[in-house]
Amino acid sequence: MNQKHSGDIAVITGAASGIGYSVAHHFATRGARVIGVDLSDRVVELMPALPGDSHLGIARDLTDPDAAAEIISQTVGSVGTPTILVNSAGVALLDSAIDVPPNRWRTTIDVNLSATFYMAQAAGRAMLAARYGRIINLASQAAVIGLDQHAAYAASKAAIIGLTRVLSKEWAPSGVTVNAVSPTVVETPLGKAAWAGEKGERAKAEIPVGRFAQPEEIASLIGYLASEDAAMITGTNVLVDGGRTSV
Ligand SMILES: NC(=O)c1ccc[n+]([C@@H]2O[C@H](COP(=O)([O-])OP(=O)(O)OC[C@H]3O[C@@H](n4cnc5c(N)ncnc54)[C@H](O)[C@@H]3O)[C@@H](O)[C@H]2O)c1
Repeated sequence: MNQKHSGDIAVITGAASGIGYSVAHHFATRGARVIGVDLSDRVVELMPALPGDSHLGIARDLTDPDAAAEIISQTVGSVGTPTILVNSAGVALLDSAIDVPPNRWRTTIDVNLSATFYMAQAAGRAMLAARYGRIINLASQAAVIGLDQHAAYAASKAAIIGLTRVLSKEWAPSGVTVNAVSPTVVETPLGKAAWAGEKGERAKAEIPVGRFAQPEEIASLIGYLASEDAAMITGTNVLVDGGRTSV
C-alpha cells in the first residue's frame, strides 16, 4: 500500500457513489482513515469494505443543518480531528430555466451549496484549532460556462467557487487550504444520467480531448490537493475538463 496519506483522517461526502466513492477508495489505498457520508444507506457497508482498517460509513441527509456538526463531532470522538474534507455530495436536476420548479431549485441549492458550507464550517472549526486542514469542494465546468438546462445547478456550483475563495482567504493563515475542483462530464451515475444518448455524443464532441472523464482522474487531483505538498495552492478552482472550457 502506498502510504502517502498515512495519518490522514478524510471525511468525504457523497461517498456511496461516483466521484465520492472513488475519492474514498483513493485515500483508503494510501493509508488514510476514511469517514464516508451519504444519503444512501449503502455507505455504511461500502466504507468498512475499503482497503485498510477503521473506515466508517455514516448515512445522513446533509441538507439537515445539524448533520455537519454531528458528523464532525462523531469523527473527532471516534477517530480524531479530520485533516481532509471532500464535499462531493451533489445532485443534477436539469430543467429549462423557464420551467425550474421551486422545489428542484431549493433541493439543488440545499444539497450542492448549503450542505457544502455546513460541512466546511463544521470541519473548519476543528481544522483551525489543529492549525492544519485540506478542504476540496466539487464545483463543475457548469460554474464557468453556460450549459442549457443548468440554471439551478450552475448557480449552486458558481457559488461554490465564491465560497471557496472566501474560506481560503480567512483560513490560510491557520494552515487550512480550501480549493474547488471543476470536472467536465464524469462517467458516474450522475454524469451518465445527465448526458445520455445523442446529447452526450454532442457534448463529447465539444471536449478537445474527445472523451468524458473517469472518476479516478478526479480523485487523483483531489489526492494531490489534499496532500502536504499542495500547501501553496488555495482559493483556486482547478478545471479537469479535457480543454472544454478553453475552446
Ligand atoms: N459526474 C459529473 O459529470 C460531474 C461533473 C462535474 C461535477 N460533478 C459534481 O461532483 C460531485 C459528485 O458527483 P457524482 O457524479 O459522483 O454523483 P453521484 O450521483 O454518483 O454521487 C453523488 C452522491 O451524493 C449523494 N447525495 C445526494 N444528496 C445528498 C444529501 N442530501 N445528503 C448526503 N448525500 C447526498 C448521493 O446519494 C450520491 O451517492 C457532485 O457535486 C457533482 O455535482 C459531477
